[in-house]
Amino acid sequence: MGFLYRKFVRQLLFNLNPERVHDAVIKTARAAQRVELVNSLVGMMTRAKDLPLTVAGLKFRNPVGLAAGFDKNCEAARFLAGLGFGFLELGTVTLRPQPGNPKPRLFRLSVDGAIINRMGFNNAGAFDAARSLERLLPLPVPVGISVGKNADCSIDEAPKNYLETLKIMYDYGDYFAVNISSPNTLQLRSLHGEEKLRRLVEPMLDFASGQKKVKPFFVKIAPDLEDRDLEGAAALALEKGFGLIATNTTVSRSALPPYWQSYEGGLSGKPLRELSNAMLSKAASLVKGKVPLIGSGGIFDGATALEKLGLGADLVQVYSGLVYEGPFLVKEILEYLDRRRWRSPRR
Ligand SMILES: Cc1cc2nc3c(=O)[nH]c(=O)nc-3n(C[C@H](O)[C@H](O)[C@H](O)COP(=O)(O)O)c2cc1C
Repeated sequence: MGFLYRKFVRQLLFNLNPERVHDAVIKTARAAQRVELVNSLVGMMTRAKDLPLTVAGLKFRNPVGLAAGFDKNCEAARFLAGLGFGFLELGTVTLRPQPGNPKPRLFRLSVDGAIINRMGFNNAGAFDAARSLERLLPLPVPVGISVGKNADCSIDEAPKNYLETLKIMYDYGDYFAVNISSPNTLQLRSLHGEEKLRRLVEPMLDFASGQKKVKPFFVKIAPDLEDRDLEGAAALALEKGFGLIATNTTVSRSALPPYWQSYEGGLSGKPLRELSNAMLSKAASLVKGKVPLIGSGGIFDGATALEKLGLGADLVQVYSGLVYEGPFLVKEILEYLDRRRWRSPRR
């Protein structure tokens, strides 16, 4: 089935404006998920054998999740869960709605199997996301909610802005991803420094620990980090018990031909894979299995998913791979993992 997408549908979609296609996909998914028969049919076509595991106290039917940024307003989660994912990371959600950066801001690099985006956290805000999830929950898979900061909020005010978002979203997520690594929000990545990160996450963890249900946290890191910042983030993760997501998109253009060098934004997909894997490996050697790791960046098939699991990821996520390989990607990855007799050590 994946073959049909690659041969016919992708060709068609790739002739159209990338953001328009994305919006149409979300709109269609939103409508489709209202019809139970459609959900069941899609589920039947995309479901593979379960490869169960438990990470951060949550049970997953398989280790392959949807990466943040695909469903920014948490509005198509029921349909997306039907694509066979083991979990969904929704958002990034900010406290107040914001339009994001001027268009065009999403580019396909089809020869390179890549995407450059400078969306800038375009989203309808936390209250809207919460309202959507109110309608859609419960879902058959764990849901992570990625939180970020509004573009008009300074770095000094970031901890308050994130915390307010968390408070609105807390009841709706099974875990929370603190996004400090989008390259499209000015200075966001400066939050990687150990002290700034501490100031950011401590209030959120304190809030969570005061709730009836204490939920797990992950911090999503950039692939372009200096060792010092990675070491700081890993040390804090160990001290506080949160996991890491390695990685977000890169600002590096070293793996790209000259034509794309001047395009600003975050690069994802195949050219990100090595950089992201290097960061995942370093993170794994620093945390030594004591806190969970999610690998994201350049997964396009079973082999590239297995590679990250082998490097120390407990779970993996896909975004660009879904755009290039289509809606049967999760099934294809899971069938590959099963053929290779992969089983999680965290069963
Ligand atoms: C168009 C687009 C939008 C994204 N938006 C977000 C976002 O809002 N929050 C986030 O944490 N990551 C975001 N990402 C990064 C992805 O979640 C993922 O970490 C990254 O693309 C690497 O994985 P991939 O190579 O499978 O795409 C976005 C990626 C793309 C391509």
